[in-house]
Amino acid sequence: MRVGVLTGGGDCPGLNAAIRAVTRRAITAHDDQVLGIKNGWDGLIAGDVEPLSLYSVSGILPKGGTILGTSRHNPLKRDDNIAKMLDNYQRYEVEAIIAIGGDDTLGVAHKLGANGMKFVGIPKSIDNDLEGTDYSFGFDTAVSFATETIDRLHSTTEAHHRVAILEVMGRYSGAIATTAGIAGGADCILVPERPFTFDGIINILDSRQRHGKTFSIVVVAEGALPKDIDAALLHPERVDEFGHRILGGIGEIIRRELEKRSNWEIRVAALGPLQRGGSPSMTDRLLATRFGVRAADMAHEGKFGYMAALRGTEIVDVSFSDALREHKMVDPKLLELAEVFFG
Ligand code: F6P
Repeated sequence: MRVGVLTGGGDCPGLNAAIRAVTRRAITAHDDQVLGIKNGWDGLIAGDVEPLSLYSVSGILPKGGTILGTSRHNPLKRDDNIAKMLDNYQRYEVEAIIAIGGDDTLGVAHKLGANGMKFVGIPKSIDNDLEGTDYSFGFDTAVSFATETIDRLHSTTEAHHRVAILEVMGRYSGAIATTAGIAGGADCILVPERPFTFDGIINILDSRQRHGKTFSIVVVAEGALPKDIDAALLHPERVDEFGHRILGGIGEIIRRELEKRSNWEIRVAALGPLQRGGSPSMTDRLLATRFGVRAADMAHEGKFGYMAALRGTEIVDVSFSDALREHKMVDPKLLELAEVFFG
């Protein structure tokens, strides 16, 4: 069998571990040929591919990024792209493509499945917002980095008696903010699931001051929004090819508003792409490896239109339609746990 593999959407730690696992399993257990498709869907449109061998995936397990490159381009934006992709699929005699991505990449794979191409999915997302799997790889590394950053902010913020605002990623889900915030001991956590008010933040910080604390740490997910404010006003006209607003900057907005209403000295740190870079954690390497091996087997079992997923401690197969139904939000119980430590 000839199997294609591509990585699409934002990169995250563990992509190379997944590529390696797919390639190793496909070659050693199934005697497959493996074709790496470059830069997400762009490579399938342009026919930009390279054969992957045991040699070419050797040594990539601990590396961040993706040896195949990635892109956020949406191939369905142009009608003629589907014919180009099908053409290359047939020209290279590909029998299945393993698409490693989040909701956008797997959403495209789901739609292309109706056009004569066969896909198996592997979920990756630092936001951990994909339904159908308890965890996507990339999340653990990102959240560990965010936790370490909160630790670092603690010492400098306490020394200066300031307020620190840490902005982390999280478009629809506040999973990184909540998990890192609890693990790092944040005093206030703001997430997309719960629109916030500036008065609410001030109440929390005031209460800390009344209890003798001279510093505070606020963690905010970049998709968090103040109540009653139109998101379009905060992020005007910056939309990617999948229609998502390009986020970033909520930390500064909160700083300006809090400074107007208080005497606190405030500093903002925004992690931005730093939380996506670097070497994957042990947990992400293991998960990406388990997903990769299962996905290679699924291609041979004809499990097309399904992705490998984690449920509890088991790897299971979940259909794209189940995985893409809606975004996974932070468990309300975790948000309640975080609130125990506010103020
Ligand atoms: O993939 C989702 C995400 O992690 C969002 O939380 C964030 O808004 C986006 O990536 C940022 O992507 P980029 O760095 O490509 O702008």
